[in-house]
Amino acid sequence: MKNIFVLGGTGFVGRHVLQKLVRQGYNVTVATRRAINAREVQTLPTVTVAELDVHNPAQLQLALAGHDAVVNLVAILHGSDAAFQKVHVDLPVSLARCAAAAGVGRVVHISALGADPGAPESAPSRYLRSKSRGELALRHSALSVSVLRPSVIFGAEDKFLNMFASLQQVFPFMPLAGAAARFQPVWVEDVAAAVVCLLQRRASAGSSEVWEACGPKVYTLGELVHGAGVWAGIAEGRGRPVIPLPQWAGRLQAALMELAPGEPLMSRDNLDSMKTDNIASGTEAGLADLGIHPAALEPIAMDYLQRSRPGYGLPGLRRRV
Ligand SMILES: NC(=O)c1ccc[n+]([C@@H]2O[C@H](COP(=O)([O-])OP(=O)(O)OC[C@H]3O[C@@H](n4cnc5c(N)ncnc54)[C@H](OP(=O)(O)O)[C@@H]3O)[C@@H](O)[C@H]2O)c1
Repeated sequence: MKNIFVLGGTGFVGRHVLQKLVRQGYNVTVATRRAINAREVQTLPTVTVAELDVHNPAQLQLALAGHDAVVNLVAILHGSDAAFQKVHVDLPVSLARCAAAAGVGRVVHISALGADPGAPESAPSRYLRSKSRGELALRHSALSVSVLRPSVIFGAEDKFLNMFASLQQVFPFMPLAGAAARFQPVWVEDVAAAVVCLLQRRASAGSSEVWEACGPKVYTLGELVHGAGVWAGIAEGRGRPVIPLPQWAGRLQAALMELAPGEPLMSRDNLDSMKTDNIASGTEAGLADLGIHPAALEPIAMDYLQRSRPGYGLPGLRRRV
């Protein structure tokens, strides 16, 4: 297996997957809607950027031809029912058809912890219901499919801990909805390593398997938000106090955030996703079964959150001496 096609390879996780694939000598084609979105990966040796509409089956099938396997990392976190259906369900359905028609038999699909293809409609949010239906479609295909379900992913360019650390630079306290929801954060490098391991597994046509990607420790959302401030060194390393909001106030806060321009910091659908814990099920295989020992959060988060603070480096050093 030498030629890998990656959808969503320009994103946070995708960039790490690409780097690992290149280091291991694979030829990689990364699909993108706009070539400019691939500027960070286009200089990687053995990576070819293909600008195409992945939602157009004719274009997708043509682009897939000649590859040995495909990785699907395309997803959205916010949107209407129609947007979730298009990206999380229709695209995997089309990918299964196009890959089969192009002679690509192997798919690694990145889903999310909490997806339940056994009962998609019982999932608590639009995000998780659509992720469940997307998994179901791929797993019913004639391809050999590996599904990877990560918990929340951390790393230097994450939008999660970085966002909560940035907010604490501005606000004296953190009103937080869903503070008791539990997560098992996993390092982006471990997720990328899992994707590469799964690509290298032998699997027969029509087979499907599920893997969960979780870190070594469970945290509540409140602990993670407060931790982001502490690890970033905000308020002399004490972080800002987290004020848990009751459900009604959290929904009101999220509804207001949805009205702001751009990607909302938190949507009501995100709150719905947090109704189920985002931690290992205990019934599916995990990173350890792939020989990956997941990294602890604190030392890594401390390193990148402090680096990204204003005043880090020479000005920060001057201030400290
Ligand atoms: N980050 C996390 O904490 C986390 C947690 C659990 C699961 N996951 C899963 O891990 C995978 C990768 O996540 P990520 O954080 O790397 O996501 P990301 O940074 O948002 O990247 C997603 C990629 O998908 C493509 N994309 C976005 N919207 C699209 C659309 N409407 N049509 C076609 N392509 C579109 C984009 O590529 P172009 O702009 O180049 O077209 C983008 O590079 C996803 O399946 C996600 O659900 C992530």
